[in-house]
Amino acid sequence: MESLSIGVVGAGIYGNYHLRTFLCDPQVSNVAVCELNEKRRLEAQERYGIKGYASVREMIEAEDLDAITIATSDPYHFEPARDAIEAGISYLLIEKPLATTVEECETLMRLAEDKGVRIALDFHKRWDPAYNCMRDEMIRGGDTVLRGYMSLDDIIAVPESWFTWSAQSSPSWFLGVHCYDLIRYMTGAEAVKVYAQGSKRVLQSRGIDTWDTLTATLTMSDGAAWTVDTSWVLPNTFPKSNDGQLVILTDRCYLKNESYRGVKNYTDKKEDLPNYLFMNFEKDKASGFGLEPMQEFVSDILHGRAFRSTAFDGLQATRIAAAVHASAESGHVIEL
Ligand SMILES: NC(=O)c1ccc[n+]([C@@H]2O[C@H](COP(=O)([O-])OP(=O)(O)OC[C@H]3O[C@@H](n4cnc5c(N)ncnc54)[C@H](O)[C@@H]3O)[C@@H](O)[C@H]2O)c1
Repeated sequence: MESLSIGVVGAGIYGNYHLRTFLCDPQVSNVAVCELNEKRRLEAQERYGIKGYASVREMIEAEDLDAITIATSDPYHFEPARDAIEAGISYLLIEKPLATTVEECETLMRLAEDKGVRIALDFHKRWDPAYNCMRDEMIRGGDTVLRGYMSLDDIIAVPESWFTWSAQSSPSWFLGVHCYDLIRYMTGAEAVKVYAQGSKRVLQSRGIDTWDTLTATLTMSDGAAWTVDTSWVLPNTFPKSNDGQLVILTDRCYLKNESYRGVKNYTDKKEDLPNYLFMNFEKDKASGFGLEPMQEFVSDILHGRAFRSTAFDGLQATRIAAAVHASAESGHVIEL
């Protein structure tokens, strides 16, 4: 195989990044889109000059696809992924979270194994050069992690006006899974115990029935204790749509990172902190660690390489997120 024919499912905010990345990739010979929403489907067809379909099965029947990527809303990854596996597509890239129940993740993994399908997960933080620098430092030093802290927060516009499906997701499903996966990736340890607390005040008062904040304490198999803070209610005046920190104390070093990446922009609007390392589209070139999972998906398939993050990683992150919700609801510690 010298090039790939790829179908993208979901043409919302992130699906458009998938489409643009593949359309820039000389190793991709054909791109098609599947989107339920007619207006979005037609917009994508017109903007990119590609064919559009209303269902995954219809797209698979009409196009000769090697791979499918799934960028549907958080609670709706399962059905299109299952349909693609059952229709015999060999490679899938699924946006995080793999699915929002452990059972759905396990079903997808079982179906994929039966059909010999390989699944990659888009946990883009595994491609972030800052986190890889911190990870390399710990590996070089043979460090033992004592304690870690990670936060990821979005401005309230994200659940309030970006999405229609926020009540079927949460800060843990949307943001937390990135953190849980990154901790596993950086330390090689698995979560064994989860305790979580959260608040449901602000979003509920605005008619969106989900968590404002979720704070999780994870006990990892290497003995380290991690605190993971996620929220969906930062004021909209914050100069980025999200904020984040990663702080790790090992037996040898103290590593700190903030999501601010060095560029500030002051205009007559609110201050802007462009994350130029994350995503850039210049003419026919896509770059940035937010787009590398899509680019690497293509080159891994063409070169027969293992994916950096797999369905198993998706399952493990979903197990932790499900435990975070169960603990926050019940007040109990959840053993994994
Ligand atoms: N990797 C990352 O860093 C990252 C960042 C942002 C979002 N995401 C993930 O990407 C996914 C999409 O997020 P978004 O911001 O684009 O959401 P969005 O709401 O903008 O877009 C989702 C689109 O999927 C479509 N859709 C839903 N079910 C469908 C189906 N069965 N078939 C076809 N189309 C369907 C909807 O109509 C909608 O247009 C989410 O799971 C989100 O968590 C990942």
